[in-house]
This record gives sequence, C-alpha cells and structure tokens, in this order.
Amino acid sequence: MALFIGVDVGGTKVMASAVSARGRVLRTAHRSTPGRLVDPAVVEDALTEAVLEVAGRRAVDGVGLAAAGFVDRAGERVMFAPHLPWRGEQVRARLMERWGTTVVLDNDANCAARAEVAFGAARGATDAVVVTLGTGIGGAVVLNGRVHRGSNGMAGEFGHMQVVPDGLSCECGGSGCWEQYCSGNALSRHARSQLGRVPTLLDEMCGGDPARLVGPMVTQAADRGDQVALQAFASVGDWLGVGVANLVAAFDPDVVVIAGGVSAAGEHLLAPARAALTRSLVGTGHRVVPPLLRATLGPEAGVVGAADQARSAVRSGGRRA
Ligand code: BGC
Ligand code: NA
Ligand code: ZN
Repeated sequence: MALFIGVDVGGTKVMASAVSARGRVLRTAHRSTPGRLVDPAVVEDALTEAVLEVAGRRAVDGVGLAAAGFVDRAGERVMFAPHLPWRGEQVRARLMERWGTTVVLDNDANCAARAEVAFGAARGATDAVVVTLGTGIGGAVVLNGRVHRGSNGMAGEFGHMQVVPDGLSCECGGSGCWEQYCSGNALSRHARSQLGRVPTLLDEMCGGDPARLVGPMVTQAADRGDQVALQAFASVGDWLGVGVANLVAAFDPDVVVIAGGVSAAGEHLLAPARAALTRSLVGTGHRVVPPLLRATLGPEAGVVGAADQARSAVRSGGRRA
C-alpha cells in the first residue's frame, strides 16, 4: 500500500500522519514547534523527526506540508509566517532533497479546507468558508469547489484582518488582528487574565502557574462547567461569530466550517459564535444564514488535506494541483 504523509506545521505543534486514500488517519507523530525565533533548520529537524517516526522503515511515496504561513502561488516557498521562522524560504525543494520523496507545500488552512471539501463538513458544497483556530487564525475561501488562491497564493489570511484599530499587537507586526481576539492564544490569554481573581478549576489545572495554562485546559474546564472557562469561550466565540458574519457578507457561502485545535471545544465555542453570526450578519431575517459547522476531521483536517494533496500530485507528475 502506498504511504502518503501529511505534516501540519503550526505555531506550537507539529503533527505528522499517515493518511489513507479515503482520508483516514492511520498513524500520527507529534513534536513541539521550536518557535519563531530559531533557525529554520531547527523547525525542519522537528518535521524530519516526525516524518521518520510515522514512516518507520517503510518507503514514503509523498509528503504534503501544511504550513502555518503564506505560501507562494507555485507552492515552492513559505514567504512569511507570523509564528514560524520561515521568510522566503525554499521549503519544498529543501525538504524534498532531504527526504528523497515528493513534497508538496500549501498553507495549513488551505489544506484543512481541501480535506473538509473532499471528506468532511463541506462535502458537496460549491462555496465554503473555512476558519481554523489554533495558535492563530487560518482561513480559506472555497469557490466552485476549489480553494481560491489569489494573485500571490495568499488569499484567505483572515487572521490578520484588523478588527480593532490600534488593538493588541500581533506576531505579524501589525495590531488589532482578528487572531489576537479569536484563537487558541486569545482563549488562554482570556482565561489567564482571570486567574487569582475568580475561583476556577484552571488554577489547579495549571498548578497555580498562569504560564502553564494552555487551550486544552480551558476546554476541559468548560466541560466541567467552569465559569472562567465558559466566559473565555463566550468571548472567543463572540469574536468568531462577528468575523464570520463579515466573511459571509463577502462570500455568501453554502457553509462555514470551523477547524483547528480550538474547534475540539464544539458547542462551547460554536453556540456563542452562531448567536453573534445571526446578530451581526447584514440582512439577517431576509436571507439564509449559512450553517456554522465544526470540521468533521477536527484537528486532523490539515494533515488529511496535505496528504491528499501529495497523493494527487504524485498521480499527476509531482506538482501541487
Ligand atoms: C498565519 C496563517 C495560518 C494561520 C493558522 C496565521 O497567523 O498567518 O498563514 O494559516 O496562522 O495557522
Ligand atoms: Na489560507
Ligand atoms: Zn496579525
């Protein structure tokens, strides 16, 4: 059986998975991302370890890289990545040489969108908007069943639309970006700001050290009815719904899909988001409000879409479709 691997390179985590032709994840390896202030080679070492772990002793037929950054239109270079050290780097060629197999490169949210269209919540949709919530916000616009790339390959960078003039500063160098208010980072920041002020399960979960508080803890605490955690989701969910309302105003999609690690929180996030979407969307009451759905493939959407892309590239002669 052919072996195709998808690698999702996020701001905090690397996830590599062997994926079947039908989009099923067979095996996964995790590494942490060394951050954005290191040499790119250090990140590439982490990717290599994860790929080797998933491959074991088998030959790899192709690897799809889902990178949390701006990938050029040709799928050769990561031009910029707010949470990673790549700046105009020839990532595809470099890793192809290092790994001795076909490598394709795309933006992580674009990969998630591809997977959700092929196997998930956007199956059968003509037009869709996909928003991934992780360290930052990733985005993709699907038009006529295909990911819209834009002139330079950089369409769909929703996370860096300015929503608050002179707002919180962002890793991209700007300020007031949507992802500062609505992402895994925003969720933990919100919860952290309440530690020691209001009684919360999170105190114990992070051992009293705010620096140790991470997004998944907020999800667990929310599951147990913790008010601070639910408040954090109410805030992030509200920002999500407002932003999505703007995207729906622009694209009028059949469906909006929410992917990424934070989407694992399900209704804690989606219920406030739907309320804000309905409230904020222009013409509500006189139009269809599209369904706001959780990604069927959840946090695995990125690796599934990336592996699928590698598979079809190999079939069609080595290039990203
Ligand atoms: C980056 C995107 C990426 C997203 C999610 C954003 O900060 O600009 O390219 O898709 O994070 O990882
Ligand atoms: Na994108
Ligand atoms: Zn930004």
